[in-house]
Order: sequence, then C-alpha cells, then structure tokens
Amino acid sequence: MEQEEIFERLLQIITRYYRDRESGTFVEYHDPGELERLLDLDSGRETGNWDQLFSRVEQYLAHAVKTSHPSYLNRMWAGANLPSVIGEMITAITNTSACTYETAPVSTLMEKYMLRTMLDLVGFTNGTGQMTTGSSNANMIAMMAARNWSNPAIKQHGLFGQPELFGFVNADAHYSMDRAANIIGLGTEHLIKVPVDDHGRMSLPALEQRLAEVVAAGGVPFFVGATAGTTVRGSYDQLQPLLALRERYDFWLHVDGAWGGAVIFSDALRRQHLPHLEKADSFTLDFHKMLGTALMCNVLLFNNRPSILKEVCSAGDESYIFRNGKDGDVRDLGTLSLQCGRRVDSLKWFLDWKFYGQTGLAQRIEHYLELCRHAEERVRQASELEMVVPRESFNICFRYRTPADIPVEPFNLALRERLHRQGTSLVGTGFVDNQLTLRLLITNSNVDKPEIDTFFQGVINTGRELLRERRS
Ligand SMILES: Cc1ncc(COP(=O)(O)O)c(C=O)c1O
Repeated sequence: MEQEEIFERLLQIITRYYRDRESGTFVEYHDPGELERLLDLDSGRETGNWDQLFSRVEQYLAHAVKTSHPSYLNRMWAGANLPSVIGEMITAITNTSACTYETAPVSTLMEKYMLRTMLDLVGFTNGTGQMTTGSSNANMIAMMAARNWSNPAIKQHGLFGQPELFGFVNADAHYSMDRAANIIGLGTEHLIKVPVDDHGRMSLPALEQRLAEVVAAGGVPFFVGATAGTTVRGSYDQLQPLLALRERYDFWLHVDGAWGGAVIFSDALRRQHLPHLEKADSFTLDFHKMLGTALMCNVLLFNNRPSILKEVCSAGDESYIFRNGKDGDVRDLGTLSLQCGRRVDSLKWFLDWKFYGQTGLAQRIEHYLELCRHAEERVRQASELEMVVPRESFNICFRYRTPADIPVEPFNLALRERLHRQGTSLVGTGFVDNQLTLRLLITNSNVDKPEIDTFFQGVINTGRELLRERRS
C-alpha cells in the first residue's frame, strides 16, 4: 500500500471514531475471556499486510472505552483536548527523545517556556522544574529532593548509617507516596500517615504531635507532603499552618496538586483552595487530569532552588550524551531527569496552553465546580441517594440508600457493575472513613447539567431495578 493511501485510510478511521465517540454506549462490555476470543490475537500471521493492520486498528477502536462519552465519569481524566491530540500525533510522527536539544530542539524550548510560565503563575521565584511521567513520579522526585536536601551525604552514601528520616502525609494521600517511600529507601513505615479532620484534611494537632514524637526519638522529619485535592474526597490540606510548622521543624513542604492543583488557573479558586502555595518547596500538577491534555502530561516545580534537579537527579557518566551550555545553562533537559529517553510531552502541553490560555482553563475549572454543585444538589434531592460525606471540592462521594435488610456496600458495588456492564455509565469507587462510596468525577468537557441529570437517573433506575430483583 502506498504511503498516501495508508494515511488516507488512517484519517478516515480517525474521523469516523472522532465523530462517533460521544454516541452509542461508552463501551461494549465483555469479560476478559470473551474479549480475548473475539480479538483472536493469535490470528493473522502474514507479515507486512496493511489490510490486516487496519482491521486490527478497527478492532481496537470497536472495543475501546470511549473516554469522551458523557457517560464516562469514572476517572480523573477523560477524552483529551483536540489541540493536545494533534500534538500527540505530531509527536508520534516525529518520534524523538526530549533528552537533548540536538534531538528535540523545539520541544526543549517549549518545555522551558512552559516551565517558566508555570513557575511565574505559581509564584515560585528562582525556581526550576521538569515534565515527568505523572504525579506518582513527581511525588517521588520531590521526596527524593527533600531527602538529599535534608542530608546531602545520602546521594553518595545512601541511607546507611544516617539519622533516621521520617516523612508525613495526609492519611488519604495518594498511594504513590507509599511507593515513593519504598523506592527512595525510606521504607513505608517511615512515611507517617496523619489522621484527617472532619474535612479530610491533615489534622494539624495530630501532625504536630507526630512531628514532636519523631524529634524526641532522635528522628529527622524531612518531608511533609500536603495534598491539594485528595483522590477520593477532594480535600485540600491547609498550607498556612503547615508553613508555620515548617518554620519550627525545618522540613520540606511538597504540595501534591495532581488533581486539585488545577485551581491555580482561577484567581478566585486559588484564593479559596490554595492560598500560600507560592511559599511551598515543590508542587506537582497533572495537565492530563482536569485540564484535559492527552495522557500523560505532568509538571513538577521547585521553589527557590535553581540547581536542585541537577543535584538530585544527575548521576553517573553522562558525557557521551549531554552537552550543556556555559555558566550552568541547561541545554539538555535529560540531565535533570531520572530517565534517559524522554517522551516529548511538551508539544501537546504548549498547544493546549496557547489554544485555551489561562482564562480558558480557569473557565473550564470553574464550570466543573459549578457542575459539581449541581451534582451534589441532585443527590440531596433524590430520596434514593445520599452523600457519604459533604463535598469538599470536585469529588462527589455518594451512594444508593438501601433498606435496613440489604447491606449498602455490596449493593452499591453491584449497582456500579451493572451500570458498567450495560454501558449506562462508568463511575468510580473509593473508601471514606472505611465506608464504600461511589465517586463521581467531572473532568469530561462533553458533560453538562443534562448529562449529569441523565447519569443520576441511570443510577436511580438501575438501583430500583436491582432492588426489585432482590425482593422478587
Ligand atoms: C492526589 C493524587 N496524587 C497523585 C496521583 C498520581 O498521578 P499520576 O496518575 O499522574 O501518576 C493521583 C492520581 O490519581 C492523585 O489523585
């Protein structure tokens, strides 16, 4: 097949998929065994066959989850912004690594431009940053930076024979914090989970008590990870009191804004949820979540320590690859990274930023919050539903009420599964105070109030149907 024909066919497939991505059901559900049979992965052994290749592509799309569909309300991300999708396509076509200027000149400059823009927006002075593979990785790099900052000997000597380090996070912090503690040699038991208050925020008296206990036992509190928008409940840790504690205990204050960090684009929401962010030591934000950039798109920023990334990440002989400028000018971003090959993530990020601008992104986030208020109102109005906890920000934690003789948790799990299998909607789950909750997240730009109403009607209808079956 000629190159032109290949691209023509591809474009037809993409155009068709894009046109239909909001219609029908969001998925044709099959159990894994059944899907494997349908895919018949072992068939088609003839190599170099473009027709077979395109039928595989069609097959993939036929069974893919339509994440742009308004019934897809499950995760912190949904179908991506078109400018960033275009960026992804160009990134794939040009296939290069963003580790050196010579292989990725434009992407390097775009990344640096975006980092400067984000540092200014957050209010970090004399800072630095990098795009990582996501907030899990960013949390780990921040924890590692805090570790090496608290004791520079660790980079060479490891944790052997050093004073014991302790980190502190919200008990509802994302699991990537535990993984980071494991990876950087801290050990998960040295990551102290601070109990939460009624709003799901780190309890300050509890944190203070644990800090004092660690110090009294000869340990070093080196890191406090605040969460700006906890994964299940959407709570924001309060930065001002944490900054006051930092004065006393001299720890590194990192802010995990993977999810709720998106409020920085709206002045009003930032004042409400993230005041004093500019005084934190580091901050991470995922553009691939509420902001809609194609997966993965993350930024990690550091305040007032311009060379921290080089000090923390760079190790070993890199002379075969990196050529950095004079006077400490970083030309090759790979030298600041834990990876060697780096995917080009900056093009899609830059295109989204230029296309929507800060105002467009602020409006999007404010609109999502308006939809969250609407959703909470719908739950409160429906006699069949209840909030598991009041809404803190963007997460709606609710469930279907059940009569006294029907246990509420298995019922809600069965309800969720039926919604999924019949293609009605996909909604998340989680636990708040050990209670199962359905977790509605609105990050889909194809969702507005009518789609939210349809979602709840689907939950109520399916819940009633399940109850009828239990009774019969
Ligand atoms: C609060 C929080 N931090 C970190 C992460 C991890 O982000 P990523 O998926 O980009 O690794 C998540 C993901 O849901 C999150 O909710």
